[in-house]
Amino acid sequence: MKLAVFGSPIAHSRSPEIHQAFAMQHGRTIEYARILASPEQFAECFQAFVANGGVGANVTVPLKEQALSLCSTLSSRATQAQAVNTLILRDGEWLGHNTDGDGLEADLLRLGMKLRGARVLVLGAGGAVRGIIGPMLDAEVAHLHIANRTEAKAQNLVSEWQQRLAGELEMKPKVFSTLLSAGGLSSAAGSAENGSWDIVINATSSGLTQERPEIPEATLANKPFCYDMVYGSKPTAFMQWAEERGCAVSDGLGMLIEQAALSYFQWFGDIPDTKVVLDSVRSQL
Ligand code: ATR
Repeated sequence: MKLAVFGSPIAHSRSPEIHQAFAMQHGRTIEYARILASPEQFAECFQAFVANGGVGANVTVPLKEQALSLCSTLSSRATQAQAVNTLILRDGEWLGHNTDGDGLEADLLRLGMKLRGARVLVLGAGGAVRGIIGPMLDAEVAHLHIANRTEAKAQNLVSEWQQRLAGELEMKPKVFSTLLSAGGLSSAAGSAENGSWDIVINATSSGLTQERPEIPEATLANKPFCYDMVYGSKPTAFMQWAEERGCAVSDGLGMLIEQAALSYFQWFGDIPDTKVVLDSVRSQL
């Protein structure tokens, strides 16, 4: 089976080793390549991959939005996120899917978090956040608040979702139990009415530059579990800050492995053992 991950940059991608480790668990032989593709080259590179027998792919930064246009069908997760991280060749057609948010949820569950009824703060309003909102709403968190440095981006994202949900409720009435809200970074402190957080997810790219979002101290009043979607050999600035204030923390390596496992499941129908692969990739960071 020919698989590949497309992105730019791509040399750092751990997807090939993760998928090879999954395949070995099931006695499968796969070819999984890294393909460097700029947005201008992406469509052409993808066609060449297909012509060479490619049957499945992952897509990473900055191509996830562009990948929508390569697919003839989109899963509901890809539609919600308006981004594709997994391409699946099914009956001669490319299906676009997004496993990022479900991968985050799986990792939070692995870490012992209970999402149903939880008060969840998400920092950031970029591409990384788009994929999280659907799974969080499906998990019936009690409150999902999106706080971003540029407040208008958080507000726009939330109003887009509110419009979509209003449409869905008309078609399929259901009890909708999550309070969905948005604000600037100062709103991360929470409010008297809504209390403070059980889980704080840093979905900004601040960790890549050793910075952290400038959020108020009161954000951590309830000692929430603090998760950074970025990972590396050392804790991010956000994780260090939260740890110094007595919070339990995690980086996003587990999310990387879980989203890969969900892609792998789409291609092969096998459920990989993620724990051994997480331990092995962690030891090589
Ligand atoms: P991604 O796809 O990783 O989400 P993105 O779409 O470029 O990347 O979004 C980056 C996010 O990180 C944005 O929410 C950005 O905030 P702005 O919208 O205000 O730019 C946020 N971000 C990046 N660096 C940050 C920092 N040092 N402090 C706070 N937020 C930061």
